[in-house]
Amino acid sequence: MAQPQQRPAKGVVRFYNFLPEGDSFLDEVLTGLARQQKTLPPKYFYDARGCELFERICTLPEYYPTRTELAIMREHAGAMATFLGPDCQLIEFGSGSSTKTRILIERLQPPLYLPIDIAGEAIREAAAGLARAFPWLNINGVCADYTRPLTLPEFAGVPIRRKAVYFPGSTIGNFTPHESVEFLKRARRMVGPGGALLIGVDLKKDKRLLDAAYDDAAGVTAAFNLNLLARINRELGGDFQLRRFRHKAFYDEAKGRIEMHLESLASQFAHVGGERFRFRAGETIHTEISCKYGIEEFQAVAQRAGFAPEQTWIDAAKRFSVHGMIAK
Ligand code: TRP
Repeated sequence: MAQPQQRPAKGVVRFYNFLPEGDSFLDEVLTGLARQQKTLPPKYFYDARGCELFERICTLPEYYPTRTELAIMREHAGAMATFLGPDCQLIEFGSGSSTKTRILIERLQPPLYLPIDIAGEAIREAAAGLARAFPWLNINGVCADYTRPLTLPEFAGVPIRRKAVYFPGSTIGNFTPHESVEFLKRARRMVGPGGALLIGVDLKKDKRLLDAAYDDAAGVTAAFNLNLLARINRELGGDFQLRRFRHKAFYDEAKGRIEMHLESLASQFAHVGGERFRFRAGETIHTEISCKYGIEEFQAVAQRAGFAPEQTWIDAAKRFSVHGMIAK
């Protein structure tokens, strides 16, 4: 006679690499540096050194978003799990170390978790930790550039009642509002009608607090930004002189966003991939934006992408918000 099952079956852990073959890093660096306003795509921040520096940013005293969002998650994880409901497939963009997700998984007990990140090694490490903490959890790790269209692998064999996209960290702020609408439209297609979105969004606030969050006293954010040039030197044989550039980050109140640049401290040249790039003293390479929102302002962006706002969780100081929305 078959034994009644005492424990849930052990989860399956799989990895997929959807990164394109070949040198898109070199192509994108050359294209960005050839522009009038030089730019570098922020997704290239996250090599091994960049991931390490980013984890340190998240614990800096000035960088309030991570600890504020973690506190919101801890306080409201139960309500969020109720909002998402049982048998929910959890899809996360930019999962990194999956620290916030762990709080959610504990309460939600989703049968399937799909962490998506450009840093494959970070997914592997996070998945190993989650598999230990939640042996029943099925994990499909996807290494991919989620700023591009993406078709997720299907996982057969577990009943799914709803798909949910989890997008914490205010990473949505790294897109312009227009790009955010396009990104959220793709998220909506991914979860289908009735699917859910749980998204962390940093709020507009005092300029001094914001400036400090992106330019900390210990210089970790500066090192993180400058690591992009170091990575170009390491991987593409570039010859950027790191001491001749400085991290420059400021909150533009009119645009409602942080802008992050690397400023050339002298008139100089740098070489990458056999090409020469000239920098005037004071000229910048634009590396990242981080848009800040009001609650209704963000809801309007999500509505344009076809999501209906249902719930908002914020901290007492109104620094950060987490929104629960349903796809129309
Ligand atoms: N999503 C994070 C944010 O916009 C990313 C971030 C924090 C970041 N600090 C940074 C990106 C410094 C580049 C440089 O808050």
